[in-house]
Order: sequence, then structure tokens, then C-alpha cells
Amino acid sequence: MRTLIQHSKGRTSRQAHRDIGDLRDDELGRGGFDGREAVLYRRSDPTVFRSDGRFRQTYFSALDQKPSDLTDDRGTPLRLFYNDDVTVWLTRRARSMPFLLRNVDGDECWFIHEGTGQVETEFGPLDFEPGDYVVIPKAITHRWVVKDGPVLALGFETVGELRAPTYPGLGRHAPFDSDVVRVPEPAQHDSAATEIELRVKYDGEYSTLLLENHPFDVEGWKGDYFPFAFNVRDWNVIMSDSLHLPPSMHVFLVAEGINIINLLPRPFESVEGVERIPWYHRNADYDEITFIHGGDSLGRPLDKGSISHDPQGIHHGFPQRARDKSKREWDKHDRINWQIIMLESRRPLKLDPHLLAGGQSK
Ligand SMILES: [Fe+2]
Repeated sequence: MRTLIQHSKGRTSRQAHRDIGDLRDDELGRGGFDGREAVLYRRSDPTVFRSDGRFRQTYFSALDQKPSDLTDDRGTPLRLFYNDDVTVWLTRRARSMPFLLRNVDGDECWFIHEGTGQVETEFGPLDFEPGDYVVIPKAITHRWVVKDGPVLALGFETVGELRAPTYPGLGRHAPFDSDVVRVPEPAQHDSAATEIELRVKYDGEYSTLLLENHPFDVEGWKGDYFPFAFNVRDWNVIMSDSLHLPPSMHVFLVAEGINIINLLPRPFESVEGVERIPWYHRNADYDEITFIHGGDSLGRPLDKGSISHDPQGIHHGFPQRARDKSKREWDKHDRINWQIIMLESRRPLKLDPHLLAGGQSK
């Protein structure tokens, strides 16, 4: 239950994130922007520091990474980050899988950044294109077929079951209408192969099954457990004209210990005095991964394909020059056109050793 108890000491604004004048607003919050919080009104930018140790932001481009599936059709995605709840993968698959795949370690949610193709599944095929999420729940047999490659996608593998959250007060059709979720139709699959290779990931290790009968022989299915695709163009951004709403308003899927969030194009807040750019903050309970799919902010293109990791409790946010510009050019920009995919992870994320070895922390 939310309480109305709040203290306000010293020089503050009447409402948070509005009319802060020459101060810098810095939010320290629990529960991923959804819990108790304090706004600290500072004189200077808290994100300017050097780090000695593991507690630091990591920033790199997916385009600089070389998963083995980029050059080897029998290769695998590259592990980027991991903990006991979630593993973050990067694929750049150039050619279709010459095998079938079943992951019994968890659910998979892939965000397609570049490339087109189809995921064949035992439920039927799902076409995909940039901007799609492709969700393949645990233990479903499937195969990635590349049409226009390489397919660059960021994957979240979760031990817990991925589910849509409840959106209090928003009803059935917001922030997305379930009718825009694409679900496969059964499709006849002809295969002349006498032995079908199925690669199974179990407890982090691959095994191979050789099947006598093709598993895509399904003529019909029913139930509430199925793979699906969803394009972010079909997401309805919930917003306020007088308050920049935090990422917790834009959650797409949740699983034990994680949230998957969409930050997508929308009009800027227009009420004078509102902080339009996300304020400095420390997400005290969640590590954050942000992936820039595209778009721009204040007329500047965002760094497409970049990935950043901000550990829980670290100061981060847009630089002060972006804040200053948003005020200086208030009338010039009426939209923020970012396309950012974000993961919140309750447990600290570990960087895969190859990222540490590459010296890509900053
Ligand atoms: Fe953040």
C-alpha cells in the first residue's frame, strides 16, 4: 500500500521533476521506479566519476561482437551477461540452422534488430523482421531460418516463466492489444530426411537427439502455452503531458527477477517546467541493460546497436548537455523518437569473461 508520508527538506521543487531551476534532480529508488524513492536536488552532475573495480558501467556495440553463428551455421549465440535468473545472448546468425533446437534451460525472448526470416516451430512458423520480439517458451522445438541475414538479435533467456504483467487501470487493450500478438498456425512440413538432428540445451550443455520422425508434423494445437511474435510498432506508449513517466510504466514481459521494457517514440511532455529527459538516477534494486534499436533524441541519432550495462545503485542518465539542450530548444522538439529495449535484473549481472578481456568497460 502506498502511503502519503513524504519529507521535503532544504531546497526542492514543489513537484518532483518539474521546475527544478538550476538544480540537478537525482532519483534514488527501490523496486525499479515503483517503490520508495528520494529525489536529491544537486548542484552538479553525479554521473561524472571514474571507477576502479567491477562496479562500473559497461558500454559496447553489438556490431563489434562476433558470435560464432556469424560465420558458422552450426555456431551459437554469444553470451554477454548472466546470473541465476537470466542470460543475455547476442546472435548474428548469417545462415539458417542446419539442425533443430530445444532449450530446456528456460524461456527465450529475442529482440530482432536487423535481418528477416522465420522461426519454424512445432506449432507452425513465425515470420520475423526488425522490431519484432520472438518469444519461444521453454522446451519448444524450433529452427531459425534466415531470409535476409545476418540476423542480429538480443536474447533474454529466463529461468522463470515469461509472462505479461498486469497493467493496473489499463484494461485489456493497453499498452498493447492481444490481437496484435502473432501466434503460429500449424503448417505441414515435408522432410525427406531419415534422421533429424535436434540439438537440446540442458543445464548449459548441448546434447544431440536423432529423431526418426520430424517433430513439425503437428496438424493442430490448442492451449495457452505457445511461441509468439510482437512488433514494437504495435506498442501504445502510456504517457503524461506533465510528468516524464519512468520505465516501470513500459514493462512488456516479466519473469522471476527480471522485467523487459520498451522505451518507444512518443510526444514530449509539453507542460512548461517539466524535465523531459530522464533524470539522473540510481536503480537501487535492478541492474539495467539497455539496447538501442534506433531513433533519435533532440535531433541527434542514437547509437544504433549499442548495449550498456548499469549495475544497480550506480549513477547514470543522459548527460547534462542533453538536459540543457532540451530546455534551450524546448519549442524545436515535440517528440522523443527513441527505440530502446531495456532489461531490469534483480540479481547483479556478471559480464561474460570475453567482455572483460576485451576491456570494454568504461
Ligand atoms: Fe536507468
